[in-house]
Amino acid sequence: MAKPWIVSRCGWELAKSIFSVETPSAQILATATLRQPASYYFLMESIGMTNQLAADGAVPETKSEKPIRRKANQLIPEGSPWNEVEEAFLKRRSVRKYKRKQVPEHYVKRILEVGRYSASQGNCQPWRFVVVRDRDMISEMELFVQNTLAMMSSAPPEEVASEEPSEQQGPPPHPIPIKLLQEAPPGMGIKVFHGAPTVIFPLMDSRGIGHPEIDLGIVGTNMIMSAYSLGLGTCWVGFAEILNFSDWPQRLGIEEPYKLVEAITIGFEAGDAQHNFVQRETHRTAWFENGEQRDMY
Ligand SMILES: Cc1cc2nc3c(=O)[nH]c(=O)nc-3n(C[C@H](O)[C@H](O)[C@H](O)COP(=O)(O)O)c2cc1C
Repeated sequence: MAKPWIVSRCGWELAKSIFSVETPSAQILATATLRQPASYYFLMESIGMTNQLAADGAVPETKSEKPIRRKANQLIPEGSPWNEVEEAFLKRRSVRKYKRKQVPEHYVKRILEVGRYSASQGNCQPWRFVVVRDRDMISEMELFVQNTLAMMSSAPPEEVASEEPSEQQGPPPHPIPIKLLQEAPPGMGIKVFHGAPTVIFPLMDSRGIGHPEIDLGIVGTNMIMSAYSLGLGTCWVGFAEILNFSDWPQRLGIEEPYKLVEAITIGFEAGDAQHNFVQRETHRTAWFENGEQRDMY
């Protein structure tokens, strides 16, 4: 039997639709001893291989072309080229222009499944997802956020400022977004969902211990990288939080303890987002070793 490459636990119905699996075969080991009766453990050589299941009726005996992870004892010399995983993280860009073509449903399910395996503090898994693929709904949400932003930017500063200024003055706002907003061409509606055909709202379960926002960032990043590997473009949408000033949370079925804090647009990229590369800062890294400290950049 081929070595298992991925171990995935998911609902049988979900697995069937992701992997086009109709019948459990020798390599898909179902076990009745799980806590969740409707769940199975699937051991599979690779996603590509299991996709062939429907056609072949069985998992073919193939090996992954290239192992994604080298062995720990295979040291690489300094200055070696970036590997595939590193390159993916370096090359991913926010995509703000999409083709009209909808993302296949099973792609979205794969992305959600990768998200589900994310790290979280105390393994709280403080998230759940809302997927919106209805163009009218996305347009309506877009309009609401745009109108609200327009209202906020045209309001006199005293109305925007907090009524009761806090005694403790925090640090001044981060300079980069302020500069970007100041440089935005006047009168141009800010694009919110960028015409993407699919929007995922990773909701934050506010009961998560520690800082569930961090867990949400991890789950979102993992899903974004999954989408990237599938040839899709994505963009985080912090502006989505403005939807909380409307009945959209109810319309999307969001209730306590879940909170709408971010959205992620997903679609096939139109153009090449690499052209939108934005400068990266080299922040100081404090490095402690052998009783000494040095600064690295
Ligand atoms: C939490 C978060 C919220 C963001 N919100 C928005 C947004 O509302 N609209 C947008 O166009 N980009 C948004 N971005 C994308 C950032 O502008 C982008 O990641 C940054 O400029 C770096 O560019 P890159 O992603 O292409 O490397 C957001 C990114 C993060 C991480």
